[in-house]
Amino acid sequence: MSILEVEDLSISFKQYTGGLKQKHHHVITDLTVTLEAGEILAVVGASGSGKSLLAHAILGILPSNAGMSGTIKYAGDELTAARQRAVRGKEIVLVPQSVNYLDPLMRVGAQVRTSVKQGDAIRAQRKVFQRYHLKSDVENMYPFQLSGGMARRTLLSTAMVSEANVIIADEPTPGMDPAVIVEALHHFRELADNGCAVMLITHDIESALKIADKIAVFYAGTTVEVAPVDDFFGNGEALRHPYSKALWRALPQNDFIPIRGSQPDPSALPSGCLFAPRCEKATLECGQARPEMRNLRNGMVRCIHAT
Ligand SMILES: Nc1ncnc2c1ncn2[C@@H]1O[C@H](COP(=O)(O)OP(=O)(O)OP(=O)(O)O)[C@@H](O)[C@H]1O
Ligand code: SF4
Ligand SMILES: [Mg+2]
Repeated sequence: MSILEVEDLSISFKQYTGGLKQKHHHVITDLTVTLEAGEILAVVGASGSGKSLLAHAILGILPSNAGMSGTIKYAGDELTAARQRAVRGKEIVLVPQSVNYLDPLMRVGAQVRTSVKQGDAIRAQRKVFQRYHLKSDVENMYPFQLSGGMARRTLLSTAMVSEANVIIADEPTPGMDPAVIVEALHHFRELADNGCAVMLITHDIESALKIADKIAVFYAGTTVEVAPVDDFFGNGEALRHPYSKALWRALPQNDFIPIRGSQPDPSALPSGCLFAPRCEKATLECGQARPEMRNLRNGMVRCIHAT
């Protein structure tokens, strides 16, 4: 049984465009993804592809004007709003993308200690601060006294001491120095090896490949491919979806060929395959219906022509 199952998740926002006219922004469409205990699933994809909203939907912290459908299950049972409140910050922990999630009125050492469930909280907090190169006087500081990198290391520390079953880390490492990034990645792997399920949302595919088991590729609010990390090599010949291949080839260390066109606007999604307007393999059939996610070669893909 998967520890976390997201099935057919759709999220939209309504926008009034003068008078009573409404525009619907479909920011997540039929998104399906699962996370296993002991596994690191890296989530990659362009900015605006819905990665943070997925994290917020799982935690139950979507903005109040968001409409949502689909199901999210945790440990086999539906994650209702009441259950989300009960497990949030305890069994399921978020490392948020924004450092504004730190409590501005609480010293950061104390903030980290609140997430220690058992044993000596002060000792656990000092140990994790040491691991993340935060000096001993940092624990008495307030968030406004921290640099961006220190604030991120504090957020990361909070999740790392939590002994949660699921950690969702939303871009946890920008602004950190390379040695701390390596430390954080090792730490995620260590936690996963001890049974934690980690969803690592990141722009840094290269780093993700070093520690993740699987990579989920997001495009325009849905998963277009889930692939084992071993499939990311060469020209992307083992990958399944044209977008994943193009994303891989666009990396500076590969061919550095940009993908032509841009991600569709959430208020005007194409009716068929969401990638069709940019896809070199597109046929008439691709524009007729949204491709279903299907199993293919030990992974999953949302493309009717993938082999
Ligand atoms: N409160 C909101 N109201 C309306 N649209 C929103 C809201 N929050 C997010 N969106 C839109 O939803 C889409 C997905 O946003 P999301 O923050 O999940 O992207 P992301 O993949 O995390 O991007 P990034 O890599 O830049 O963090 C974007 O088009 C964004 O503009
Ligand atoms: S379904 Fe068609 S348009 Fe979409 S990714 Fe596959 S080949 Fe390209
Ligand atoms: Mg984001």
